Amino acid sequence: MNALKITMLCFITIGLFLIFVHEMSEMAAAEVSQSGMAMDSVAKGKAFFNNPALGSSTNANSCNTCHPDGRGLEKAGEKKEFHIMGKKQESIEEAVNICIEMPLQGKALDPEGEDMANIVTYIKSLKK
Ligand code: HEC
Repeated sequence: MNALKITMLCFITIGLFLIFVHEMSEMAAAEVSQSGMAMDSVAKGKAFFNNPALGSSTNANSCNTCHPDGRGLEKAGEKKEFHIMGKKQESIEEAVNICIEMPLQGKALDPEGEDMANIVTYIKSLKK
C-alpha cells in the first residue's frame, strides 16, 4: 500500500465517521422535540381539564370536579366503547364531548380539533 492509498482510506474513514455523528445528533434532536411536543400537549390538555370555561361551559363544573386529577380515567385512553349518562359513545372524543355537553352544560368540541387532541393526550397520559 502506498502513501496515497493510505491517505485516501483515512479520508473515507473520517468522512463516514462524520456522517455517522451527524445522523446520530439529528436523531437525538428529533427525539427531544417529539417528547417536548407530547409534554406540551399533556400540559395544555390538563389546563382544559381544570378549566370550568371549557366548551363555553355554562356552570361551575370542570372535568376535574368529577374526575379529580383524572382519577378513574386511567383506562379510558384504551377503551373503544363508553357508557356515560345512559348513552353509548364509540370513541374517547365522543365520551369527552358527552361530558362537556351534559355535566359541563357546554358545547361539544370539534372531535378532530387541536383542543380535543390535547385533552385526549392528557387522558392517555393518565394510564398507569
Ligand atoms: C358531573 C360530573 C362529571 C363531570 C363534570 C365530567 N364527567 Fe366525565 N364522567 C362522569 C360520569 C358519571 C362518567 C361515567 C362513569 C365513569 O366511567 O366514571 C364519566 C365518564 C367519563 C369518561 C369515560 C371513562 C371510562 O373509562 O369509561 C371520560 C373519558 C370522561 N368522563 C371525561 C370527562 C372530561 C374530559 C370531562 C370534562 C369535559 C368530564 N369527564 C367531566 C361524570 C363527569
